Amino acid sequence: MSQQVKSFDLYTTQQNMLEEVIAGLSKPAKTLHAKYFYDQTGSELFEQITQQPEYYPTRTELEILTTHQTTIADKIGPVHTLIEYGSGSSRKIKSLLSSLHGLEEYVPIDISKDYLLQSAAELSKDYPNLSIKAVCGDYSTPITLPVDRALKKVIFFPGSTIGNFDPAEAMEFLRHSSHLLEVGDGFLIGVDTKKNPDILHRAYNDMAGVTEAFNLNILTHINRVLDGTFDQTRFEHVAFYNEAQGRIEMHIRSRIDQIVQINGQPFTFQEGETIHTENSYKYSIEEFQQLAGKSGFRAVTYWTDANQHFSVHYLEKTNG
Ligand SMILES: C[S@@+](CC[C@H](N)C(=O)[O-])C[C@H]1O[C@@H](n2cnc3c(N)ncnc32)[C@H](O)[C@@H]1O
Repeated sequence: MSQQVKSFDLYTTQQNMLEEVIAGLSKPAKTLHAKYFYDQTGSELFEQITQQPEYYPTRTELEILTTHQTTIADKIGPVHTLIEYGSGSSRKIKSLLSSLHGLEEYVPIDISKDYLLQSAAELSKDYPNLSIKAVCGDYSTPITLPVDRALKKVIFFPGSTIGNFDPAEAMEFLRHSSHLLEVGDGFLIGVDTKKNPDILHRAYNDMAGVTEAFNLNILTHINRVLDGTFDQTRFEHVAFYNEAQGRIEMHIRSRIDQIVQINGQPFTFQEGETIHTENSYKYSIEEFQQLAGKSGFRAVTYWTDANQHFSVHYLEKTNG
C-alpha cells in the first residue's frame, strides 16, 4: 500500500457477528442484519448489481453528482476532510474529489476490509496528493474517527444506504453522526425517492439474478465466518415493495423444512419461512428533509434528476 494510504482497523468481526446472527435467527420472524451481505464476494456482487439495466439508483446518483459537481462544491465551500460511509468501490467520490475546494484528506469507512483497502489503493493512484485514511469499521455503532475535529469536514453517504435503517434508526444514526461534526460541517447524502412500484420491483429483481446471488451470499458469508451449514440451493430470493411502509423488503425463503447449524447451534426452518435480510426505505424530498431536521441537521438544499428518481441532499450540522 502506498505511503499516502493509512489503514485503521476499528472492527472486530467474529464475536459481534455471531451474537447478532444468533439473535436474529432466534426471533419468531427471523432476520439478518444487512451489513452481513458484505464480505469480499458480497462487495463484488453489489458492484455488479450497480451495472444491471434495472438498477437505476447508482447511475442516477452518479448523473446527479456529475451534473451538479460545481454547484455542490460551491455550496459546500472550502473543506479539509471528506469522510465517506460505506465507501465500497469509492466510485462516486471521484466527482467530489475533483471538484471540492481545498480538500486535503479522504476517510473512507467500510465494513468489507479487503475491498476497502483495494479501493483505497486504486484511488490513491489517481489522487497522489490526497491523504487517504481507510477505516474498517461499522458506522451503525458510534465510532471515533482519526480526523482533526477543528478542521471543516463533510460526511458523504451515497447509495441510499440510509434507507437500510428504519426511520427511527435513521434519525438515531444521523444524530450520532452529527456528534462527529462541528456546527457548519456538512453531510451530503444520497436518498432514493418514492416512485412507481414497478420500477422499484424490477430494480431489486434483476433478470440476470445478480441481486438474488447477492442476497443469498449472506448465507455463504455466515457459513465461512461462523461455521454454518446453510445450503444456498435450499433457499430462494424474495424482494417486493411494501407500499404501506414505503420500503423494498428483501427476504430469503426456505424452499423446504430443514435444520441449519451455526457454530453448533441448530435453527429450524419450515418450508416457506423467510429470513428478512434488508429494508430499503424510500423518501419523498419533504419526508427526508423533515427527518434530517429532527436529527441535528438543517436541510440546506438538494439536487435531483429529471424524473426525481433519486435525490442528493446537503445538510449542515446545527446547534440542536
Ligand atoms: C449499498 S452499498 C453502497 C456502496 C457505495 N457507497 C455506492 O453508493 O455504490 C453499501 C456499502 O456500505 C458498506 N456497509 C454496509 N453496512 C455497513 C456498516 N454497518 N458499516 C460500514 N460499512 C457498511 C458495504 O460494505 C458497502 O460497501
